[in-house]
Amino acid sequence: MCGIVGYIGNLQAASVLLNGLKRLEYRGYDSAGISLLEYGKFENLKKVGKVSVLESMFDEHEFNSTLGIAHTRWATHGEPNDVNAHPHQDNSGKISLVHNGIIENYSSLKAQLMKSGYNFLSETDSEVLAVFIGSLYEKFGDFEKAVRLALMEVRGTFGITVLCSDDPDCLIAARRGSPLIFGVGDGEYIVASDASAIIQYTRSVVYLNDNEMAVIRRNGYTTKTIQNEEIIKQVNQIEFELESIEKGGFEHFMLKEIFEQAKTVKDSMRGRLLPDEGKVRLGGLLPVMEQLRNAKRIIITACGTSWHSALVGEYIIESLAQIPVEVEYASEFRYRNPVILPNDLVIAISQSGETADTLAAIREASQKGATVIGIVNVVGSTIARETQAGIYLHAGPEIGVASTKAFTSQIVVLSLIGIMLGRMRNLSATDGKSLVRELMSLPEKIDRMLENTSSILQIAESYKKNKNFLYLGRGYNFPAALEGALKLKEISYIHAEGYPAAEMKHGPIALIDENMPVVFIATKDEIYEKVISNIEEVSARRGKIIAIATEGDESIKKWAKHVIYIPETIPMFIPILAAIPMQLLAYHIAVKLGRDVDKPRNLAKSVTVE
Ligand code: F6R
Repeated sequence: MCGIVGYIGNLQAASVLLNGLKRLEYRGYDSAGISLLEYGKFENLKKVGKVSVLESMFDEHEFNSTLGIAHTRWATHGEPNDVNAHPHQDNSGKISLVHNGIIENYSSLKAQLMKSGYNFLSETDSEVLAVFIGSLYEKFGDFEKAVRLALMEVRGTFGITVLCSDDPDCLIAARRGSPLIFGVGDGEYIVASDASAIIQYTRSVVYLNDNEMAVIRRNGYTTKTIQNEEIIKQVNQIEFELESIEKGGFEHFMLKEIFEQAKTVKDSMRGRLLPDEGKVRLGGLLPVMEQLRNAKRIIITACGTSWHSALVGEYIIESLAQIPVEVEYASEFRYRNPVILPNDLVIAISQSGETADTLAAIREASQKGATVIGIVNVVGSTIARETQAGIYLHAGPEIGVASTKAFTSQIVVLSLIGIMLGRMRNLSATDGKSLVRELMSLPEKIDRMLENTSSILQIAESYKKNKNFLYLGRGYNFPAALEGALKLKEISYIHAEGYPAAEMKHGPIALIDENMPVVFIATKDEIYEKVISNIEEVSARRGKIIAIATEGDESIKKWAKHVIYIPETIPMFIPILAAIPMQLLAYHIAVKLGRDVDKPRNLAKSVTVE
């Protein structure tokens, strides 16, 4: 949510910053801007729209500056327009700043500053911070001190990168609650919201923690707390490859990521299965083994797609380990004084590892004494660092704003946890072995499924003009239905609801007529017959049935207008397979409607504000 880049070094900053913005655009894309310090003055360009709009303005300018900052915005305060776009300057024009986060006390600060004669051009909280730093710089004549004092005063969250035109060899970066890292090159440094903007230049990065700042010059940097205590930070290495953040010949990142899933599912279990013993090995959980053994209750907390995988996880863990599991929206958990008991285990699931609601939930849980573990994709992210132990998805960078491969990998990892907890309790070695075997068979099944997806394209063509969709499933397939509906609505803007199939008759059945496509996940499992009854209820009301069914199930064609077959697997792993055709259906409908699939309106990849 909002992408920040800053560069100081010897290269032409404009092109480094523009490249960075393109890599970070998935974090926000309602406006973009850049500030370059040239001959003691800022050159500022900012424009509503995507980074490409800003890029087109570059044609008329030639920049030689080697110091600059840039931003791609997801609006919080003030509508997306040129004036509200970042960077923001102070009244003297000497300070330029980009900001991610929310300054909660901005209106009182603004009133105070206005009283002292300062003016504001935009409606943003970020400009207030820029003007505030400027006012302190005017007073003390010390750039670093001005930034520090301002940050000590503001409430809320920030990731900022800030420049002062009086000091052409200095870039200051600081964070509280919004991610910020910097790459360490040879005489050059790149600050960014995430590693994707850095990897092209260096693999060595420093992660800033909350209330830390870096004062960066061409010949080195110092890191300190906002309270001015020096700290030594470790330099880490970025693990992924540059290709993994490129489209690799696919039209969209989302399509690439859908098609990667045989590999990503495999990578999520790689080195973690012990087929001969029917066990799994999760090295990341070693620090909390004792707590896992003694866990009496599990609370899984997450948002969006990760919340859907948490629901699948609830069913899996309860079934395999017989431990009660509750699933909580992170945004609710935080603010309702939840009960945490001794021996509660809290699992936070987050692709990005930066979701503000999830982060707030784990802090709440830790404060109440829970053991907190993370299931996270982005290595080194805040949630990964703030949990006591965890398991990485190893699904590689997910750039498409709609989450796809993370969902399937999350279910794999939750299954691994289920098997592990089960084997610590009553799950037999024989059952453990067959679960492990089944998991191992999934990548090949996904590959096979993705070999022929033409029927999905036809279905997309037939229903692209429909205004509403229902997605129904029972048991493990109920959360999968929720996820199918979310995918469709977020990228196609078609209204879609997911429901437990049997719950439909308690209300949503009123919506069904010949204009309502209903996607049923109707795979062969112990409740297949019941789902067929629900299908009949829809069919009797002339709803258009699109069934996701098990290969070989010919009889379903009696009711379903369209059938998408998926390979057979055990019920708890069906959501992994069933998710993929639903992702593709949403994708193709969105493409046919001309939507910007990788950057759907109003969304951002990692939601770093509460
Ligand atoms: C949906 C989607 C969002 C995220 C949610 C949580 O496609 O991407 O619903 O799942 O914002 O994000 P993470 O998993 O990064 O915490």
